[in-house]
Amino acid sequence: MRVVGLISGTSADGIDAALCDIRGAPPAIEAAIVHAVTVPYADDTRQRVLDACQPGRAGSDELCRLHAALGEQFAAAALDVIRAARLSPEAIDLIGSHGQTVWHEVEANGRVSATLQLAEASIIAERTGITTVANFRPRDVAAGGQGAPLTAYADWLLLRAPDVWRAVQNIGGIGNVTFLPPLNDTTSLPLAFDTGPGNALLDSATAFITQGAAHYDRDGALAAQGTVDEAWLAVLLRHPYYARRPPKTTGRELFSAEMAVGLVDEGRARGLDAASILTTLTALTAASIADAYRRFAPAPIGEVILGGGGARNPVLVAMLRERLSPAQVLLHEQIGLDSDHKEALVFALLAHETWHNRPGTHPALTGAAHATVLGQITPGANYAALLRRTWCES
Ligand SMILES: Nc1ncnc2c1ncn2[C@@H]1O[C@H](COP(=O)(O)OP(=O)(O)O)[C@@H](O)[C@H]1O
Ligand SMILES: [Mg+2]
Repeated sequence: MRVVGLISGTSADGIDAALCDIRGAPPAIEAAIVHAVTVPYADDTRQRVLDACQPGRAGSDELCRLHAALGEQFAAAALDVIRAARLSPEAIDLIGSHGQTVWHEVEANGRVSATLQLAEASIIAERTGITTVANFRPRDVAAGGQGAPLTAYADWLLLRAPDVWRAVQNIGGIGNVTFLPPLNDTTSLPLAFDTGPGNALLDSATAFITQGAAHYDRDGALAAQGTVDEAWLAVLLRHPYYARRPPKTTGRELFSAEMAVGLVDEGRARGLDAASILTTLTALTAASIADAYRRFAPAPIGEVILGGGGARNPVLVAMLRERLSPAQVLLHEQIGLDSDHKEALVFALLAHETWHNRPGTHPALTGAAHATVLGQITPGANYAALLRRTWCES
């Protein structure tokens, strides 16, 4: 099947769209990116998304308008990637859209009770004519799971190594990891959870420090000029989220822009310059990831596969290499996957699985009572033809 996957993550930097070729069925499923693009959010869209992530900032009227506006932008991103691949929408079978998370409600006991992703699927199906699967997280939440990280099931299907335990580490706004047993171990189960902040605090702190001139610390250029305040880092690592046992997920509800501004003030009060504040926050991402592996990895990790925008930050990657040694740290590219668009590929794969009435999670990964078929299907103009073809194939 040809499936377009769409996602905008917690960084709110833009929409990743990947046109994918998906064949077979688990455990022998293959998924490859044919073409991928990232459509950056315009500044005002990014600001609207960030405001929608802060309680009290956006009312129901603004959430409603943003849901429709993002639906239009997700549809446009799907059409962009189809055009860039020199195909027509009629040649595409499905779209899988994660949407834009604006709220993920984690209770004090760590259970998730509600989750909200925007980008109206009806608009995507209407504009593209392509049957669209969206709203993946709520079904896993309804089954008692965290509803995230949903990339983990795809990691389990696609990325196990022959004979070493792998950690697949995504560094988006939030960091998330999947610990994968090797293929030659048929009894161990995978484990997945959010490790804590990825780029979210760094991005917000950079925007605050540069008074909005920069949205992120490009290539770690600022952080490279500072030094880590180890004593402050030790204090920051006492945040209770890091010690909580998985499965666990988090988001901007906890690691918020407000928290980042508070941390910049705290760093200044400790006498740190702007660069050293960012160096220490970069070290917080690296250290919280390494600590999570020490605490929760079910077995010694042989390989770490890094992805997400944070993998493009050389200061962060160097800190991770040092802290995760002796594990080998690789980029997704080194195992043949485009790290910028891997999550978009995942939602193409999950849409494909939903279309075939197969689950998109594993209880070991999200803590759900059982595996569920995820999402909601919005019929596009191709719906009847797609049903007929799938029916004949099976
Ligand atoms: N060259 C770079 N140097 C430093 N950080 C980068 C670079 N490229 C991307 N990033 C970081 O990655 C983030 C986007 O990562 P992404 O994986 O898209 O996250 P999300 O899934 O949360 O949207 C940016 O906000 C920025 O913090
Ligand atoms: Mg992104």
